[in-house]
Amino acid sequence: MSLYRYLLRPLIFRLSPDRAHDLVIGVCKYMEKRRWLLDPIERCFSVTDAGLKRKVFGLEFPNPVGLAAGFDKNATALGMMQALGFGHAEVGSVTARASAGNPKPRNFRLVCDESAINRMGLGNDGAAVVAERIGKSRHTIPVGVNIAKTNDPGITGQAALEDYRTSFQAVRAVADFITLNVSCPNAGDGRTFEEPGLLDQLLQFLAIGSDQPRPPVLVKLSVDLAPDQVAELVEVCTAHRVDGYVAVNTSVSRAGLQTSAERLERIGPGGLSGRAIAARSTEFIAYLHQTSKGHQPIIGVGGIFTAADAIEKLNAGASLVQVYTGLIFEGPGVVRRICRGLVRQGRRKTGDGKR
Ligand SMILES: Cc1cc2nc3c(=O)[nH]c(=O)nc-3n(C[C@H](O)[C@H](O)[C@H](O)COP(=O)(O)O)c2cc1C
Repeated sequence: MSLYRYLLRPLIFRLSPDRAHDLVIGVCKYMEKRRWLLDPIERCFSVTDAGLKRKVFGLEFPNPVGLAAGFDKNATALGMMQALGFGHAEVGSVTARASAGNPKPRNFRLVCDESAINRMGLGNDGAAVVAERIGKSRHTIPVGVNIAKTNDPGITGQAALEDYRTSFQAVRAVADFITLNVSCPNAGDGRTFEEPGLLDQLLQFLAIGSDQPRPPVLVKLSVDLAPDQVAELVEVCTAHRVDGYVAVNTSVSRAGLQTSAERLERIGPGGLSGRAIAARSTEFIAYLHQTSKGHQPIIGVGGIFTAADAIEKLNAGASLVQVYTGLIFEGPGVVRRICRGLVRQGRRKTGDGKR
């Protein structure tokens, strides 16, 4: 029986999702400075097994299960995320300018769908501040930084390119990898750079394809893209020597949900995450893997709650996976359970199941 599901979750779910998130981040921040509290948590939650280790983008990962962007936007919870057993964490999205994000409420749980809708709107402390924080943090897991364009519709054209570059330059020295978020559904123009011509300009402007030393660069794509759009974007990314993909970002679709149309109407716009996008995410990963001919590794994300969900993404072609909504619904033990499941699966595969 999961203590979280039956005891803690009902209490947390009595709070609004915005308050719950602020509270959890507050607790993480408190723990962050108290190593003596984090150490026992890490001993309890992290799963160490040689079979879980991965080398991807030239980086060593202790296990393939990472934290997806959006949870630790400001890199204030890295110690806690490591203690909970995550094999990497993607912080952000961060933007060149600090921003408060959209007004609350901006987070909604769809309990019967084990899903969530958010319109956070890229609130964060700004790329330079977050970079400084990462530089001071004592984490040992790889940390990616997800960068997006400042949420301001007045920043377009050349200014938009420069905005991305400001963030890129601010975080490049502290990021183990950088994810270009070109698929945010919560900024009016957040998906602009998912247009192949503009993505081409952005990658050119950031000189991703040049021989200059830089951390691995990944592009995060939206689950709502059609196959022909994915194929075009892969062509652009390949031409610029992008190192990999994060698939997928949230969806603007509301198809197939159990949640009533009235409630969805009341919630309004935002990106859908969790179980509701799991199957589409897996299909997307399989198609992306096939289209990119497996040349660029994929971090698979979208509706991962269990080891079986993670295995589905890995079998579809992902090299690593990430979790966000699964953490809300399954609680802090989610990474341990997934990792243990992966270890068991690995042993079954090698015929080593009895040990
Ligand atoms: C509350 C919330 C905030 C998010 N913020 C970001 C973000 O700032 N940048 C980003 O690239 N993705 C963001 N995401 C998307 C997640 O990183 C992930 O791609 C998506 O939620 C699918 O994974 P999941 O089903 O495990 O949640 C956010 C998701 C949620 C639920």
